[in-house]
Amino acid sequence: MSSPGPAKIPQHVAIIMDGNGRWAKARGLPRLEGHRRGVETVRTVVDAAREIGIRYITLYAFSVENWKRPTDEVSGLMGLLDYFLKRELNNLIKEKVRLHTIGRTDALPANVQRELDRVKDATKHFTDWNLVLALNYGSRNEVADAARAYAEAVQAGREKATDASWERFSRYLYTGGLPDPDLLIRTSGEQRVSNFLLLQCAYAEMVFTPVLWPDFGQADLQAAVDEYGRRERRYGLTTEQIKTGAK
Ligand code: IPE
Ligand code: IPE
Ligand code: MG
Repeated sequence: MSSPGPAKIPQHVAIIMDGNGRWAKARGLPRLEGHRRGVETVRTVVDAAREIGIRYITLYAFSVENWKRPTDEVSGLMGLLDYFLKRELNNLIKEKVRLHTIGRTDALPANVQRELDRVKDATKHFTDWNLVLALNYGSRNEVADAARAYAEAVQAGREKATDASWERFSRYLYTGGLPDPDLLIRTSGEQRVSNFLLLQCAYAEMVFTPVLWPDFGQADLQAAVDEYGRRERRYGLTTEQIKTGAK
C-alpha cells in the first residue's frame, strides 16, 4: 500500500488526447491542423514523461469508433501516424523508448502497419521507458478478442476453464504484460472514458483538464502528476488501515 513520503510518481499514465478539432475550430483552421499540432504535443509529452520518471505512457490515438469520421479526416490521421513513426524512430532509439501498440492494428493501412512493425522491432530491447499507442482500440473489442483467445487456449489444453481468474485472463488482453495505468488523464474538458482501458483502469486515478490537447504541455502533465500525488489510493480499505498499515 502507498505510504506518505517522497512525491508519488505514477508508473503508468494513460492519456485520452482530446480537443484537436476544437483547437483548430477556434482558430478557423481545418481539423487536420489541430491533429498536426497534436502530434507535436505527443513529442513534448513523451519527453516530459521521461523527465518526470513515468515509465509507461499510453496514448489513445485512434478508437474503433473514429473510423466513422469523414474519410478525409481518417486518411489525414493515418498519414500523420505514418509521418510520426518515420520521424520519431531515431528519437525513440536515442532516448531508449520501447514502442508498443494495443488495438486491432491489423486493420490499419498496410504502410502504417509496416512502420509500426519497424519501430516496434527497432525498440523491442528497451525496458526502462515505454510508449504504448492505442490504435483502432476499443475496450469492448479487446475483451471479445481476449475471450476468444482464452477459449482457444482452453480448447488447446493450455488453460483450464475452471482456473479462470483475472490474473490468467488479463494476459490475453492487448495489454498483457503491461502494468495497469495508475493515472488516467483526459484533456479538453470531456469527462468520459470513451471505451478506453475500461478494465485496466479499475483503480486508476482520473484527472480531467479543460486544456485542449494541442495546448497540453510539460506543466500540465506535471500538474496532473502532482494531483495524483495528493490522492489517497485506498483499494477498498479505510484511511486508518492505509495510515497504520494495519490489517
Ligand atoms: C482527439 O481530438 C483526436 C482524435 C480523436 C483522433 P478530436 O479530433 O476528438 O477533437 P475534438 O473533440 O473534435 O475537439
Ligand atoms: C476518444 O476521443 C478517442 C481518442 C482520443 C483517440 P473522441 O473525441 O473520439 O471521443 P468522444 O467521441 O468524444 O467520446
Ligand atoms: Mg474528441
